[in-house]
Amino acid sequence: MEVVSLSAPAHPDQAIRWVESAVLLLDQRVLPRVERYVRCCTASDMADAIRAMVVRGAPAIGIAAAYGVVLAALQHANKTPAERQRAFDRDMAILAASRPTAVNLFWALRRMQALLANQPNIPAEALLAEAKHIHQEDIIANRLMGELGAACIAAPTAVITHCNTGGLATGGHGTALGVIRTAFQRGKITHVYADETRPWLQGSRLTAWELLKESIPSSLMVDGAAAARMRTSEIGWVIVGADRIAANGDVANKIGTYQLAVAARYHGVKFMVVAPTSTLDLSIASGADIPIETRAAEEVLLCGGTAVGAPGADAWNPVFDVTPAELIDVLVTERGVVRNPADKSIRAILS
Ligand code: MRU
Repeated sequence: MEVVSLSAPAHPDQAIRWVESAVLLLDQRVLPRVERYVRCCTASDMADAIRAMVVRGAPAIGIAAAYGVVLAALQHANKTPAERQRAFDRDMAILAASRPTAVNLFWALRRMQALLANQPNIPAEALLAEAKHIHQEDIIANRLMGELGAACIAAPTAVITHCNTGGLATGGHGTALGVIRTAFQRGKITHVYADETRPWLQGSRLTAWELLKESIPSSLMVDGAAAARMRTSEIGWVIVGADRIAANGDVANKIGTYQLAVAARYHGVKFMVVAPTSTLDLSIASGADIPIETRAAEEVLLCGGTAVGAPGADAWNPVFDVTPAELIDVLVTERGVVRNPADKSIRAILS
């Protein structure tokens, strides 16, 4: 992966770009301190970028993987048919193994794979058109969810959000942050409290950066401050995204989401999950079946590259948790809003 510097300030809604047979990814590991792109020229580059979280957030991972399939098709175009198929299959497997929890990755790979059925050759042009569709559809879905989610907020209020769910985490605009952006434009949001989101700091580095760019009044807080904020000030909603939603409405999202939902129910604060239908996984009955990614202990033991944990200390670093459906008041998708999500209403959305 080659680093590409920028000539103008970066925009969060331009985190993934197809440029001259390669993909430029806004490097989320170093934002907001450094604004730079990383160029991916092969599927293996793309898998490395997803694993290292150069690109992250469930919908963005799906879009990036779709472009990764195009890179595989281009890279192996000049091989013999048998070699080409072998190399392509290997790349599909490498992409599928890059991160386990965000189901959008597998959804996008399946969509790309569907174009290959009964094709004698690997149709690179059709694959590129499909990847661009997936990208555009996500932007449209986010805009729709922005309107639908904003419509659920009755009166101007402060909200809490977790992780980063904005342009950076999607094709553009965002899921939960997309609702916040739209609701702010409609005068329905007075202030955003953004959890810093330890250990990777998606909140303090990425969400705060996006909120500042949009001039939305906001404060960062440590993850442990959320319950106290609900107790001491007027918070109408907690608004979060999702990485995978099971058939019964259980939601896997960034670690810390579950405790936010518990605290919200205790304090009478409404809890909204915003996710496109590409995040629904009806093959999984409940959240107990969702694979939860565990990442390196160093992410917890180090902060900004500096060792902070006691030398020799162990660390447990699951990066997602599951919020049971009964703690969710509203699920917003681009196809509609489900109040008090349950098995039947989630299936109805897809039918
Ligand atoms: O580990 P990450 O940063 O990829 O996790 C991202 C999240 O958990 C987001 O909240 C989720 O993907 C929704 S993003 C639109």
